[in-house]
Formats: sequence, C-alpha cells, structure tokens
Amino acid sequence: ALVAMRQLLDHAAENNYGIPAFNVNNLEQVQAIMSAAEETGAPVILQASAGARSYAGELFLEHLIKAAVESYPDIPVAMHLDHGRSPSACFSAMRYGFTSVMMDGSLMPDGKTVASYEYNVRTTRRIVETAHSIGVSVEGELGCIGSLETLQSAKEDGQGAEGSLTREQLLTDPEQAADFVRETQLDALAIAIGTSHGAYKFTREPTGEILAIDRVKEIHARLPNTHLVMHGSSSVPQEFLAEIRRYGGVMRETYGVPVKEIQTAIQHGVRKVNVDTDIRLAMTAAVRRFLVEHPGDFDPRSYLKAARKAEQEMCKSRYIAFGCEGQG
Ligand code: G3H
Ligand code: 13P
Ligand code: NA
Ligand code: ZN
Repeated sequence: ALVAMRQLLDHAAENNYGIPAFNVNNLEQVQAIMSAAEETGAPVILQASAGARSYAGELFLEHLIKAAVESYPDIPVAMHLDHGRSPSACFSAMRYGFTSVMMDGSLMPDGKTVASYEYNVRTTRRIVETAHSIGVSVEGELGCIGSLETLQSAKEDGQGAEGSLTREQLLTDPEQAADFVRETQLDALAIAIGTSHGAYKFTREPTGEILAIDRVKEIHARLPNTHLVMHGSSSVPQEFLAEIRRYGGVMRETYGVPVKEIQTAIQHGVRKVNVDTDIRLAMTAAVRRFLVEHPGDFDPRSYLKAARKAEQEMCKSRYIAFGCEGQG
C-alpha cells in the first residue's frame, strides 16, 4: 500500500534499522527495487528527483509507482520527491499523489546559491503546514551536502552549490539542527557530514576527517527523536568500477561511503539512506558487459533485463545490510 514516509521511518526508529531510498526514473528501476523488497520483506521508499521528472515526466513517474503499489499490495511504499527546490515543486508533487516531499531549503530555487538559515526555516515550515494537513511527510535539509576534501558541492554536471564552501557549511551544526527541527516540525532531517552526490565522493577510502560519522552521533545525541537522512550514500563498489572499465567504460579512481559506516550511522538515528549512483553503476556495468558478450543481440529487453537484475541484486544487499529484512 502507498503510505506516508513518516510511518515507515517511525517503524524503522522503533526497530533500529535504516531504509534505503532508491531513486527511480523508469520501469526497470521500479521493478528491480520492488523485486528486491519482495525477496527480503523490506519496506520501500521510491524517490524521484528533478532529473527524473524532466526525464520521465511526473505523470509517468506517478503511474509507474502506483503500478508497483498495485502489483505488490503487501509491501508498504512511500512515494517521495527528492530535493524539491521550491515550494511549487513540492506542491506539484503533492497534487500528483506523492506521500512525502523533500523541501531542500539549504539552497535557493536556482539550486546553486546557498540559502540563508531564515529562508530555509520559513520555506520548510510553510511546506510542513500544507503537507501535514493532507497527511504528507516532509524531509528538510540543513547544511550543504558536499565534499570536505575539495570543499565543493557541485557535481561534474554542475548540479549543487556553486563555488567553494566552508567546513562549517558542509557540516550540520547540532544546536542549529535542534532549532531547525523545533521551528519547522519536519518529519526527517537531511544532514551534511561530508558525503556528496555522484560517483566521485572521495579520492581515498574515507576516514573521520572527510566522512564525519561523529557528527551524526552528536546530532543524534542532541535530537534523539528526529529521523536523520543521509544523502550521497552510494558505496561506489570497486567491482562495479572494474566491470565498467573492463567493458570499455571510463571511471577515474574513486571511493564511496562504505556500507559499514552507514551501519554505524543507522545505530545513531539515520533512518533514510539515499542511493542513486550505485543503481547507475550496477546497471551500466551490466549493460556494457551484456553488449560486449552478445554483439548480435539488438533487443533492448535483453540488455535491460541484465541491467534490472544487477540493480535488483545491489538493492537486495542494501536492504539486508541496513536491517530491513522482514520489516516491510
Ligand atoms: O540528487 C541527486 C540524485 O542522484 C538525483 O540526480 O537529478 O540527475 O536525477 P538527478
Ligand atoms: P548518491 O549519488 O550517493 O547515490 O546519492 C543520491 C542522493 O543523495 C539522492 O538524493
Ligand atoms: Na530526498
Ligand atoms: Zn541527495
């Protein structure tokens, strides 16, 4: 059934596990996640980004997700707007039946300019008031998701805060977080701890200076009842990079967020773990491999099946690692 995200996160907090929130853009990705959830008995958060909305359109995303809900009536599914950049993006998602929205007020609606704290509070609170009146959950963000190694937030495609940021902007302040939660009454708080979006998160295996798991502990100690959200949580498995390179792709040396660090964060209040890049890597590795191994096959269903299966396996392993087995 389609449920509010708050319901899933409350259950995760009561039972001390975390839920991966997987990004979806097309049929095969929705199917892969649902199959993985069915195999493991996990609850599901499907999230759509601005990129997904411009790729597929909100109507297709709505109906793909509703088809998933109807096909798997026993699995609880939250349909979430990822990184809503403006109130209008959030209102539009609510009209399309999303049961959860992220109002990302850490940046201005241009998605490039760092917002003031006052703007973030005011805008997030306004979305919470409307959303809660119709049973929709709200995620907000405090601090800027980005790298403590390079002090950059923007990805190679230019998405994210422009220019150099300070360590203070890149690490959520626990006291300010407490004020933010009190002022906005949101359901889930995305925090900045040195993770960043995309495949190129860390130039080496992350240590405490560049992946601030201690900051999660400090925020959780100050806000034990707030559901925390980690963005940029793909693990960027070296096997996927190797397979992509082996079958003709180009990937520079890079490291993601180790699963064991995420498991520690889950012990300290992280209930939603955003994963998109690992889906991209799993699918691309499988498609590259399939096409090289089957040069005569030109049926898209063949390589999309391989991609879907690779995503399903990755999702299944995250559901198990984050403690979701049998919780759905
Ligand atoms: O926020 C980052 C997610 O990975 C979504 O990226 O806008 O390219 O779909 P996207
Ligand atoms: P990754 O790029 O690490 O998968 O992060 C996705 C994300 O945070 C979506 O909001
Ligand atoms: Na989100
Ligand atoms: Zn994100």
